[in-house]
Amino acid sequence: MDKNFQRKDLLGIRNLSADEIKTLLQTADTFRDVSRREVKKVPALRGKTVINLFFENSTRTRTSFELAAKRLSADAVNISVSTSSVAKGETILDTAMNLDAMAPHIIIVRHGSAGVPHQLAKVSRASIVNAGDGSNEHPTQALLDAMTIKEHKGEILGLNVAILGDILHSRVARSNVHLLTKLGATVRVAGPNPLVPNDFCGLVNNGLTICPTIEDALENADVVMVLRIQKERMNDAFFPTMREYSIYYGLTKDRLKLAKSDAIVLHPGPMNRGIEIASDVADGSSSLILNQVEYGLAVRMAVLYLLSGGNENKEQ
Ligand code: CP
Repeated sequence: MDKNFQRKDLLGIRNLSADEIKTLLQTADTFRDVSRREVKKVPALRGKTVINLFFENSTRTRTSFELAAKRLSADAVNISVSTSSVAKGETILDTAMNLDAMAPHIIIVRHGSAGVPHQLAKVSRASIVNAGDGSNEHPTQALLDAMTIKEHKGEILGLNVAILGDILHSRVARSNVHLLTKLGATVRVAGPNPLVPNDFCGLVNNGLTICPTIEDALENADVVMVLRIQKERMNDAFFPTMREYSIYYGLTKDRLKLAKSDAIVLHPGPMNRGIEIASDVADGSSSLILNQVEYGLAVRMAVLYLLSGGNENKEQ
């Protein structure tokens, strides 16, 4: 085991130490080149089994966990919830315990309710990875965002990071606020009033500032992270119309000029083009949105590797 990362599960960023985060990022760095080789495979997890159990839709996270497992030579299994016995009424806990009986090493879980991965971690011998639980956390997204920032800015310490949009429903924002403040960044969040909780993550004045306007958050930012409007989690009308949202809160080229001239733009995807982000910003020279996806694979390889025992297995 890596002495700086000895956990059974990865359930969130909130409870990780700065050293654990740094170990995850350093390990991800060592795996980055595997995906650039002609033969994109190392034997590090030969004989291990990884199960993807996604109760919510995903393109990036599910595919990159599957590819990460395969590039580490693990056996990877994807459970399609719609054709599993969940559709016959089996509980999540029973599903997890039945999968656990087949002795996988790691189960990756995405669910629409906060806390589901934490419940499964209590009953499962396999390591559980949280791939997004409701509005709570999405730890591997924050890690890949951090890797993208480090790669392009050198250090996270001392950076001004603006997080814009639907803060309330965003597990990406929660994991990022915890990670970025632990590593010494200053984080400013802004969005429509009803979508920005007053005491977000309990970190206001501890590295986090709630800004009254998008423009305030953008002023002199080194990093601009735009969040997706999560229509599927909104039961109330949080803003009048999508058109008004794009006018008052969308990241346009003009608004981006408020940030530093070398500011980078991130978005976790999937994007609502023309709503929270203008297409010419998403596709522009400041955008690192596809780099985020590339680093996501390396981060997920690192997570699978460290949860499987780290250096005990390393043969590259
Ligand atoms: N960022 C992210 O979690 O994307 P997916 O929903 O496609 O996995």
